[in-house]
Order: sequence, then C-alpha cells, then structure tokens
Amino acid sequence: MPSLLDALSEQLGAAFTAQGLPAELGSVIESDRPDLAPYQCNGAMAAAKIAKKPPRAVAEAVAEHLKAQAPDMAVEIAGPGFLNLTPPAQAYELRADALSKDDRTGARQVAEPKTILLDFGGPNVAKPMHVGHLRSAVIGDSLQRLLAFRGHKTISDVHLGDWGLQMGHLITELEDEQPGLPYFDAGFTGPYPENSPVTIDDLSRLYPQASAKAKEDAERNKRSQKATAELQAGRPGYRALLAHFIAVSIKALKADYEALGVHFDLWKGESDVDGLIPGLVEDFKARGVAEESEGAWIVRVAEEGDNKELAPLILVSRTGAALYATTDLATILDRRNEQDPDLILYVVDLAQSDHFEQVFRAAVKAGLAEPDGLEHVKFGTVNGADGKRLRTRAGGTFKLADLIGQAYERAEARLNEAGLGAELSMAEFKTVARAVANAAIKFSDLSNVRTTNYIFDLDRFVSFEGKTGPYLLYQAVRIKSVMRKAAEKGLEPGPVQVTDAAEAALIRRLDGFDLAAARAEAGRAPHILCEHAYSLAQAFSSFYAACPILPEEDAAIRASRLQLAATTLRQLELVLGLIGLDVPERM
Ligand code: ARG
Repeated sequence: MPSLLDALSEQLGAAFTAQGLPAELGSVIESDRPDLAPYQCNGAMAAAKIAKKPPRAVAEAVAEHLKAQAPDMAVEIAGPGFLNLTPPAQAYELRADALSKDDRTGARQVAEPKTILLDFGGPNVAKPMHVGHLRSAVIGDSLQRLLAFRGHKTISDVHLGDWGLQMGHLITELEDEQPGLPYFDAGFTGPYPENSPVTIDDLSRLYPQASAKAKEDAERNKRSQKATAELQAGRPGYRALLAHFIAVSIKALKADYEALGVHFDLWKGESDVDGLIPGLVEDFKARGVAEESEGAWIVRVAEEGDNKELAPLILVSRTGAALYATTDLATILDRRNEQDPDLILYVVDLAQSDHFEQVFRAAVKAGLAEPDGLEHVKFGTVNGADGKRLRTRAGGTFKLADLIGQAYERAEARLNEAGLGAELSMAEFKTVARAVANAAIKFSDLSNVRTTNYIFDLDRFVSFEGKTGPYLLYQAVRIKSVMRKAAEKGLEPGPVQVTDAAEAALIRRLDGFDLAAARAEAGRAPHILCEHAYSLAQAFSSFYAACPILPEEDAAIRASRLQLAATTLRQLELVLGLIGLDVPERM
C-alpha cells in the first residue's frame, strides 16, 4: 500500500495531467502551515508558466477535478495558488490499519538492491581511538543498519591501521625492553612462540613511549623507519610480531565496539593487502598510470577545472615504502577480488578529503573502480566547549574508552536523579545505564548534520528532556509499559478510528517513515532518522495526552488507540534500531 503522501501525490498528479500538465507538478508535501491543512501542493506556481495561465486559475482547475474524483478530501486554495489538502478520516484509518499489519510499518525496500561495502571505524593498532574514530563507528554503523534495512547487501570492514610507522615504533621499542626475544634475532629459524609477548596494555605503553622519543631524536625515528621498511619487506621475525600486535589489538577493539553495539563483518587491515602491492605498483608503472618523480613513484591526479591544486598521490616513497594511499588502492583491488561491491562507502573525517580524492581519482585512472563506485562519507569534528577540537584536560587526544566511561557514569547519575530504575535488579540497572549512555553518545552525534562540527556536552546528551537519545528511550519504554498493562487486563488492539486531531497527526508521522528512510539513504544522513524518531515520539506524547488509552470506556476506541500505540512502538524501535539504540524493557 502506498503511503498517504504518495497516494495524495498520485491523485494530484492525475488532476494536473487532466489539465495537460506534467504529473510531477502534483507532488504533495507535508504542510508548513499545519494549522491550515496537513498537506500541501505547490505545483500550480510552476504550472502557470507552462500553462500560460495565472497560478490561481490552474489551482482552481485542479481543485475542481479533485472535488469530482475525491469528494471526501477538503481542498482549499490559499494565496497565489497553494493547494491545501485535508484527507478524510477514512484515509488515515485505512493507512493506520495497513501500517499496523506491516512488520516494517510502511518502510519499503529498494527495487534494485546493491552490494555496498562500508569502510568505517578505522582504528589504528596500538594507538588509542579518539572521538574521530567514535564518529566513524557511530555513523558507519547506522548507515550499515539503514542500508541493510532498505534491502541492500552490506559488508562492513573495520580497515585497521596496521601498516605504518607505528609498527616500526612498536617493534623497536619492544626490542629495547626485551632484546632477548627471538623476533629480533635475524638468524632465528623458528618457529616463533605462539603466545603474544605483549598485552594490549604493553602496546598502549610502548607506542606513546616510542613516538615521544622519536619526536625528540631523529636517530630514534630512523630506527623505527628502518624497522617499518624491514617489516614491509617481509622480515620473518617482524611479521610474526605484527601478527601478535594485530591479534591483541583486535581482541581489545572487539570488546570496545561490542560495548557500543557496533558490528563489523570483516576485521581486515592495511597489512592484509601487502601481498597485492608489488603487482599493483608494477601494473601502474607498466600502464603509465604512475610516473617517477625525484626517486618516488607518483600518480598525477589534478584535473582541469579543479578549484584548488590537488597534489599527486605518492604510490611508492623515495625510500621504497608503501604509504597510506598505496594500501587504500590495494584494498580497492582486494575488495574487487573478494566481495566485488557496487559501491564502497568510506566513513572518514572531513580532514581526509584530499586523501580520498587522490585515491579515488587514481583508482578510476587505473581502471580499478568506476567513478560512482567510491564515495567519501565525510564528517566534521567533535569540539569542546571552547569550540576547538575536543581534548582531555591534560591537552591530549580524547580516548574513546574514557568518553564511554564518563557517559556511563553520568547516565547512572541521571537515572538516579530522575528516580528511574529504582526497582530494577543491580544487573538490570547496569544494562539500562549502558543503554542510556550509548543512546546519549550516539543520538547526539547522529542528530547533527554529518558534515557539521558539534560541541560535546555530556550533561545535555544524557538528559531525559529535549531532543536526546535518553528522552527517546524513555518514551519507548513508556509505551511498552502501557502495552504491558493492557496485556495484563486482557485488552487487544483493534481497527483504527480517528476521533481526534492528535490521532491523525500521529498517523501522519507513522506514514512519514518510508520517506524518511529513503531520504536518509540518499543523503547518507542518519540525522533524518533522528528527526523522524523525535517527531514520532512527540506526536505520540501529544496523542497520549489528548487521547486516553487504558481509561477510555468505549471498547472500540480503546482498541483503536492501543493499535496506534502498538504501531508507534514498533516503528520507534525500528527507527531507533537503525541509529543503533536498544530500547530496554523498563526503566
Ligand atoms: N586508520 C585511519 C585513521 O585513523 C582511518 C582509515 C580510514 N579508512 C581508509 N580506508 N583509509 O585516520
């Protein structure tokens, strides 16, 4: 069944066609003056030019046609020729009944599903994750949920940063601490020990230690560079160490992402495509895609009409090393071989725009991808109250684990202040606090237009009032409690009857989910889902205030309202699910 909006557009389209005008002019939108009418069509203004008639005359002809075809609909002409439309109660009732029978509450799937690979998360081995990585995880996970819901085949890859200088830092620093390990003995013939010589805590200590020394001391940095080059050239002891570093990191990262409810299908990294690099470089050279420049191999990617100069991509550095862009190109090749996606989405911060532009152009130039097969889904930074990139008190980069820990503490405090969860067991309370903390972090991130920067304000994010994740969870839990009480009384939902404007308004919100999901996909824009969730929760609130459910004495009306509550709950859980929020049973 089409949405109310689509059905209206269809009817209006027919009315325009009857005047010999294009059907698209009949496109109906939700009104920006809901006090006058819930829906409007502005097509008469554009039609006037084609029809060479005043817009009001076009609008009058359309209204005449509608009155004959759909006598129950109220049509009014306002101003120069706006058509204000009020569908009859029956249209709402039919739609509400259809939505209540549909598991997806009206959200359709795409006609032509694609295979979409999402590259997000992008944490680096041994380096702590920062808020930029958090944004990537939260946005990427929401997009993967949305795209799958829309019917696409999605594959997500965390794309670990495990191939740069940081590996050389780790190797050399470990060598200084434990020179006796067999990994450093070039004459060792193996096999290497199975157990890791380091824990995640060791890694978190070794990396900053080495990187601080390297900043002070050029010789120390050279040692790390040399170790990196040897690792890349395949030195067995270093490769064995790398495998341990990666395994230890992945284990810790999986726990962090799991706590956030973020899922990846693939746990591959830059180092996984190392074997593809020599062939790729040879191929680029042979086909003239890459050229030599001052001892390095580069791909020129600047194009005519660029409004700023895009530097060439460095494929092989002067010292013979593969760089960040090289691994990204080899990863495109690997994905083509392994998953053959129609589209790769890179959910990575805006600051890397030039990098992706270089990689995409080089990939297209080399025939590795189609221009519309690669897309950088950019996002802005998270700032502190001072408007600058979020830092810790000591001035360092904000660590993801600290941030989540803080959100959890505040969530617990807020629940206690609000007197929520008082009758829950300790374990259940903790689960609820975790859900509230995740909701606070995710919703506050996703509700912003992706490319804007936002200010991190935990106190506002964990509030149960206003446009926040916790508010939405609370609303959903409230509906659950109504449904539970109804079930205890043996009350069943029944066919929908519209008896109040608040019911029609709620049905309009429910009806808007399909369009919201389609728009969110088109714009890679989870904020549209957030807006939908919020407006739905608000519409429910107004409905609940105006239309009593359990106390209603008329059994048919009570059953109708229960039906609306049940459908709202289903849709709210669906849309919150798309932004990665789980609704607790109670709180
Ligand atoms: N590891 C990178 C960083 O921390 C992000 C990786 C993004 N994905 C990619 N395919 N380059 O900045």
